[in-house]
Amino acid sequence: MKQFHVAVVLLCVVLAGTASSLAGEVSLGRTLYEARCVQCHGKEGKGNGPASTFLTPRPRDFTSGTFKFRSTESGGIPTDEDIVRSIGNGLHGTSMPDWGAFVGKDSLLALASYVKTFSPRFSRETPKPIKTGPTVPLSPASIAAGEKVYKKLECASCHGNDGRCNDAIAADFVDDWGYKIAATNLAEPWTFRGGRAPEDIYLRFMTGIDGTPMPSFAGSASDREMRDLANYVTSLARKPAWSMTAEELTAFYASLDKAAKSNPVERGRYLASSIGCAACHTPMRQDGTMMEELKFAGGQRWDLFPFANVVSYNLTSDKETGLGNWTDDQLKAFLTTGVRRDGSRMIPYPMPWPALAHLTADDLSAIVAYLRTIPPVHNAIPEPATPGVFTYLWGKFRVLILKEDIPIKAYAGNAGVAAQKEVQP
Ligand code: HEC
Ligand code: HEC
Ligand code: HEC
Repeated sequence: MKQFHVAVVLLCVVLAGTASSLAGEVSLGRTLYEARCVQCHGKEGKGNGPASTFLTPRPRDFTSGTFKFRSTESGGIPTDEDIVRSIGNGLHGTSMPDWGAFVGKDSLLALASYVKTFSPRFSRETPKPIKTGPTVPLSPASIAAGEKVYKKLECASCHGNDGRCNDAIAADFVDDWGYKIAATNLAEPWTFRGGRAPEDIYLRFMTGIDGTPMPSFAGSASDREMRDLANYVTSLARKPAWSMTAEELTAFYASLDKAAKSNPVERGRYLASSIGCAACHTPMRQDGTMMEELKFAGGQRWDLFPFANVVSYNLTSDKETGLGNWTDDQLKAFLTTGVRRDGSRMIPYPMPWPALAHLTADDLSAIVAYLRTIPPVHNAIPEPATPGVFTYLWGKFRVLILKEDIPIKAYAGNAGVAAQKEVQP
């Protein structure tokens, strides 16, 4: 009996110890999280921290318990090690840093414990790791066998026949959180978020990338075939630019140049998205996300006090309110000199025409060719409002005499007059 009591007391001590060490871990995790993660993931883990609006992809919303990089069955919660791996290694090709370089293993575990508290799924469900067979070493035979599996499982429908997405049937995907995403270029493994080792790649297509259209292929082929497929994907890697010789770099850029010349619209799409025309020429919602239905239709209002109050222009091919009636020459002249069709000159910001002045003739034509493909959206943009002379002088006084740094402001909502009523702010 006495022994029984001792056992019970011991058990209680152990249990209380475990509970308090878990509580300690969670509270350490909270401290670290609030210092290092809230800017992106938000205080409540909703993926909406102050930096989140500027990031593509957006930071993870932890409240739904959906995790992309797991060793567990599709749709299931990840293991602690999965979360620790993502936090420790970071997610390459995204803004998620590799925290393992800054904090120790205990802190990574504590952060994982805290991240789990945002979703009730972790107290209800247990992670179910998938069953895996032995690994298969990289060899020409295994790679050749893997190529057949790539065809059989139709990876090409999203990643293209050569893995570079060029001839993919499906593109422009949307994730579960409503944001546009693209299938990964499999020739650039340094952008694989979950890691580039064959073992990592194997886990990606065996478990799927939850929250995205990338499905789980578990059970679609034998485990041996899946190992071969991972080796095949590994073999698709091209040499990154930073490890090319001078000759290789020249040839690489020549091939990009050739591709650009043979497809100006694609080149123009690439340039327009790198320059970020849509970021300014699309109205924003209050939360900073774009009104997709008005993409390129202008309507974002900017306060350039004391110079003007302007609204970004409608770049769609609408004849009445967009670029539909501009000639190519008018458009090129405007983009490189800032001179509008009526001969007036635009100030050098925020519309970045001084930077565009350096574009080559081919690139300029490519941008114009791409703009022509944007379907018309009716959104009438008001003329810029120039301030009265007193407002202007008062502004100059504040800038030059009081040395104030008056910020340029961009506002949410559509300042244009759109045809569809429902897209008004
Ligand atoms: C600079 C912004 C930024 C910071 C700071 C940041 N993250 Fe992230 N994090 C991201 C982004 C972006 C993603 C989503 C990447 C994606 O969707 O592929 C992400 C995803 C994650 C994921 C999800 C992995 C999965 O399998 O879905 C975890 C876990 C995570 N972050 C934890 C943390 C923790 C813990 C911290 C602080 C120590 C932190 N993050 C700080 C940007 C950030
Ligand atoms: C329905 C479209 C679709 C199919 C089919 C598909 N993928 Fe994907 N794949 C995607 C998308 C979308 C992403 C990017 C997910 C994201 O944004 O996080 C992706 C990402 C990946 C990644 C990158 C993982 C990482 O760590 O970032 C690999 C590797 C990959 N896919 C391999 C494959 C293989 C191999 C197949 C065939 C067995 C396949 N995919 C089939 C859509 C698809
Ligand atoms: C940083 C924000 C920003 C970026 C990036 C930007 N624009 Fe603009 N753009 C504006 C604003 C604001 C106006 C309106 C300015 C005004 O009325 O004074 C404007 C005006 C224009 C106009 C209308 C000229 C007129 O007659 O009123 C065209 C055409 C145009 N932009 C095309 C482009 C193209 C093409 C790109 C990408 C290559 C681009 N813009 C990138 C902010 C931007």
